[in-house]
Formats: sequence, C-alpha cells, structure tokens
Amino acid sequence: MSSLMPVRFTPFDLDAMAQAEGRVAILIPADGKMSPAARRANRLTKGGIARLVESERFSKVKSGDVISLAWPAGMEAEALDILVLPRRPDFDEARKAGANLAKLSAGKSVLVMAANHARIEELALGMVLRAYDFDVHKTKESDPLGEIVIGHSKPEEAEATFAPLYAVADGVRMTRDLTNEPANVLTTTEFADRLVEMESLGLKVEVLEEDKLAELGMRTLLSVGQGSVTPSKVVVMQWDGGEKDDAPLALVGKGVVFDTGGISLKPAGGMEDMTMDMGGAGVVAGTMRALAKRKAKANVVGLVGLVENMPSGNASRPGDVVKSMKGDTVEIINTDAEGRLVLCDVMWYAQDRFQPVGMIDLATLTGAVIIGLGHENAGVFSNNDTFCDAFLKSAKAEDEGAWRLPLGEGYDKQLKSRIADMKNVGGRPAGSITAAQFLQRFVKEETPWIHLDIAGVASVSSETSYAPKGATGWGVRALSRFVQDNFE
Ligand code: BES
Ligand code: MN
Ligand code: ZN
Repeated sequence: MSSLMPVRFTPFDLDAMAQAEGRVAILIPADGKMSPAARRANRLTKGGIARLVESERFSKVKSGDVISLAWPAGMEAEALDILVLPRRPDFDEARKAGANLAKLSAGKSVLVMAANHARIEELALGMVLRAYDFDVHKTKESDPLGEIVIGHSKPEEAEATFAPLYAVADGVRMTRDLTNEPANVLTTTEFADRLVEMESLGLKVEVLEEDKLAELGMRTLLSVGQGSVTPSKVVVMQWDGGEKDDAPLALVGKGVVFDTGGISLKPAGGMEDMTMDMGGAGVVAGTMRALAKRKAKANVVGLVGLVENMPSGNASRPGDVVKSMKGDTVEIINTDAEGRLVLCDVMWYAQDRFQPVGMIDLATLTGAVIIGLGHENAGVFSNNDTFCDAFLKSAKAEDEGAWRLPLGEGYDKQLKSRIADMKNVGGRPAGSITAAQFLQRFVKEETPWIHLDIAGVASVSSETSYAPKGATGWGVRALSRFVQDNFE
C-alpha cells in the first residue's frame, strides 16, 4: 500500500518562516501584490522577492507557475517556492497549483504560508493527489515521506473543510494502488482481502465464492475465470449512510485482475498493461472507501466481479454457449471480450438483490473507446438523460473527462447469434457501442443506468495534472461528488 502525504493545518506564524526546514511556499498573485508572508520572505532574502516580482521572468507568469529559490539566504529552508495564484482562484486553479507544487517537492515536507488565502483546502487536495508515488516494489530505501503543513489564520475551520477532501484523496489512492498492482500480487483473493479490510471503516463487505456464484447461476462470469487458478469472486460492499428504507445507488465494476485474452490470446506486445483490467472494480472500491471515510449520508452499494482471464485446458473456448444469471444464452465468439460476460451477471445480481435507484457500471471494456476518445475522456452510455446529465455535471466539476456516446437498436443486429440468444462480440464497427448494447440487455427497463468505458483513462503512459504516469484513479472524485450532489 502506498501512503498518502499527511496534511496538518497550524496557526499562521510569520516567525516560523525563517527556521522552517524542508521547503517553504508563499503565494503571490500574478500582479505581484505581496501578502504579509511574501513581505516577510522578501525581508529575509534581503529583497529577493521584490527583485523577482519586478523581473522580466515574472511578467510572463501564469496562475499555477512555481518559481523556486534554492537554499535561500536568511532562511533555514532548502527552497523557497513562490507559487503564482490569484487571491480568489477557482477550484481547478487552486488544485492545479497545489499539484505543481507537490510535483516539485517530490514527497519532501512543505510549509505553505497560506494565511487566509481562498481555496487553500483545494490546493492541499491537489498537492496530496499529485504527491502519489507507487514505489512499494522498489527495494531501494526511499526518503521518509514528509508532511504538508499549512500555516492558516483559521486552522480548525480549514481542517474541517479539508477532511472530506482528504477522504476522497484516500479513495483515489486506493484505486491507483489496486490498478497499478501487478497480477501476481493482486490475485482475486488478495483483491477481496483488501476489500474485506474496509469493514473497519464501517462498510458491510461480503465475498461470494464460486460455489455460491454457481448456485446463483452466474455462468457467464464463471466462464471467464474457469481457466485460471485464482478463483472467481463477487464482492459486495454496502455503505448505509442514508435513510433506512431508501433504495441504494449501485456501482458495478469489472475486475479482471489480468486479461490475457484467454484462448483468443492477445499478442505479447503490451500485454503487461492488462494488469489494469480490474480498473473499474478499483474505482468502485476507491469510491466506497471515500464515501465511508467522509461518512456520506447516502446508501450506496458497490459490487465487483473479480476474475482472471487465462488460457488453459479448462478455459472457455470460442464457440462455447453459456447461460447468464438472467437466463439469456451467449455464444462466446471471442474469449477476449470477457468484460461484458463478467458485468452482465453482476449487473443482473445487483438489480435483482437491491432494486437500486440507479446503476453505474465501470469497466476497462474496449480498445475501441481509446481509438474514439483517446486518454482524455471516458466513454459514457446511458438509458436515462436526466441521470446521465447529472453524472456528466459532476465529472465536469471534477475535471474528469467524460463524453457521451450513443446507444441504439440498430446496433443490436451485430450481436445476433446463429445458435444462442446473442454473441459476445459485434465485429469492428462501433466496438464500444456494441459492447454497451450487450450490457444494456441486462439492464431492467426501470433502472436508470450509466455505463462508463474507462479503458482509455484508468491508466495512462504520461503524467496528468493530478497523477504521475500509471493509474489515475479517474472517476472516484466524480462519483463521490455525484453521490453528494444527488443523494445526500
Ligand atoms: N480489457 C480489454 C480492453 C482494453 C484494451 C482495456 C486496451 C484497456 C486497454 C477487453 O477485455 C478486450 O480485450 N476487448 C477487446 C474486445 C474485442 C475482442 C471485441 C478489444 O477491445 O479488442
Ligand atoms: Mn479482453
Ligand atoms: Zn478485458
């Protein structure tokens, strides 16, 4: 497990600046107007800040830029970071500035001289998100993790505002850890164990094992995992923070801990990336963690289907016909289109057991969504405009890219099977849509539903504003906000 950088709010104290070790950050708006902390830094550095503000360099700064003075004279600190930020930044500006600062400080302690600057809690969130580092498998001893100390005029108030944001950051951290973890470590059993640990946060967690899944009739899910030695599982997490009789929102995640493609084996090049094929389940887990940690006043249930897609003598083959829990039969044309086979059973079970007010599934489902939308937006599909618009609004507010794509009966003919009710692939045209169309067959008419295809956004090969290379945790922030704005 990686650790989240600790954040502490302390009373604002100008006299602490000279002696502070590690890094010290001050905030200056692009117009160069100096706050008391900036003036103190200026005095300590014998006019260094004034010279910076009057320089050619400063005339070109934009919000979020950081200019660092190394080993500044007159201070104990190893660096003085001058962070450019307006007095009243918007959410994104504050978070991005924090992220830039954290990238620079690389886990070292920072004292941020914030005083009463607006949206400092958002800045701290940006710092914590960007300070993430998945180094658990590096044997070289890394420097001990520092802390973020915020010198604030009203530390208790700021701390209270920050607490729910920190809860969300911890959810994002968990999603990233799960998504980054290799498949020899994150087996289905290890995944389930990590979810069971969340009982300590007040979540109810149940693990359904293979015999129970067979009894429930989840044959399509079981068919995906039958070639692997790590057993298939469904984990149900319940957060009951709302009214006793309110139906829950259901979140469903694809948790393929490794996707070789099965008998329809994937090519070797890049196959190692398929450790992230449990990304949807990772987001469900991280969101449940965030909701529990911030004690959300809503009922939410998270279900994940955990399987490994391996080729073996026992694996399912192209041409096999399997029956889903719903009762519909599926002809497996391509064993690499396994995600939908997992989701359809878990989605059916979620509706059957919980009669949710709405259902959102998340899955690294298709390569085609990456062709269509790249790494900037997840593909969004829905049977309900109101429900979908509300989610898109939350995603936008959290700066998590999400773009709606169409569904339509016309696409259904691509899924016609000669010998079963449907086949599991619809050919190359509109691959992400036919996958969503497959899933929709397992959504009851009365259930508002959103399908999020996160294949392009769950893990990326270059850094983003809020994350280093690798798992992003996309969706945890949007979903936590969606719950807050619509169900609390
Ligand atoms: N897990 C993959 C989709 C994927 C691709 C996720 C790239 C992340 C990055 C999924 O199970 C898959 O293999 N989909 C196939 C479907 C095809 C066989 C219809 C695909 O997209 O090629
Ligand atoms: Mn696959
Ligand atoms: Zn897959």
